[in-house]
Amino acid sequence: MSETLEEMASFFDARCECYDKVHTAGIDGGAESKRVPALCLPPHTRTLLDLGVGTGLELEAVFTRFPDVRVTGLDISSHMLHKLLEKYPGRSIELHQVSYLDCDLGSARYDAALSVMSFHHYDHAVKRALYRRIRRALKPGGVYVECDYMISAHECPDPQAVEDELFAAYRRIRRQQGLDDAREYHFDTPCTVANQIRLLRSAGFSQVREVWRRKNTVLLTAAI
Ligand SMILES: C[S@@+](CC[C@H](N)C(=O)[O-])C[C@H]1O[C@@H](n2cnc3c(N)ncnc32)[C@H](O)[C@@H]1O
Repeated sequence: MSETLEEMASFFDARCECYDKVHTAGIDGGAESKRVPALCLPPHTRTLLDLGVGTGLELEAVFTRFPDVRVTGLDISSHMLHKLLEKYPGRSIELHQVSYLDCDLGSARYDAALSVMSFHHYDHAVKRALYRRIRRALKPGGVYVECDYMISAHECPDPQAVEDELFAAYRRIRRQQGLDDAREYHFDTPCTVANQIRLLRSAGFSQVREVWRRKNTVLLTAAI
């Protein structure tokens, strides 16, 4: 019998109290993976969009490097956002409890955009559309940084087969449980690094690069 899937926001709401400890201990790259994204932001970053910001683990290093940066954080879990609010008094943070899949990201608004450990729940078509909207939200010279769970060719002989199996399992479990097509559920469907790079390029980004990796936690940068 397969695991019962939980709706995305409920999943993270239910785990917000223990999230910071359990999440960081459980991922490849651990705490380092929350520090590196800040180092990859462009030096001129004054405005930053963080998609799936959660409790803001990656923001500590962002504020160390850019004390005056204005952060716009998006997340569908209200409990995760409440935890974040307690953490960074005095910093410029605007939070929105929305899905980044269907909210207005604007046009030429941000110097940089960041997403850490959030997009591995979505498929190619969803990601491509999202990447197009992120690209549009960036100012000229803007950079998008994604540090996420991806399937690295350094870690397994056939990354595409692993990706295909995970998406097939997700479709099968959704069908078995009669889940609502219009809602998002928590299930990890990471893409291969090669597919990630292709998706970012097909959304119009140039200079897409893998710049850091610890097993299957991979950081990509993409310039507009
Ligand atoms: C694993 S946590 C990562 C949080 C933080 N970025 C970090 O690295 O610690 C994933 C976050 O993405 C959020 N998320 C997932 N799907 C989302 C969506 N469609 N729109 C907004 N937030 C979403 C979840 O609510 C959760 O807070």
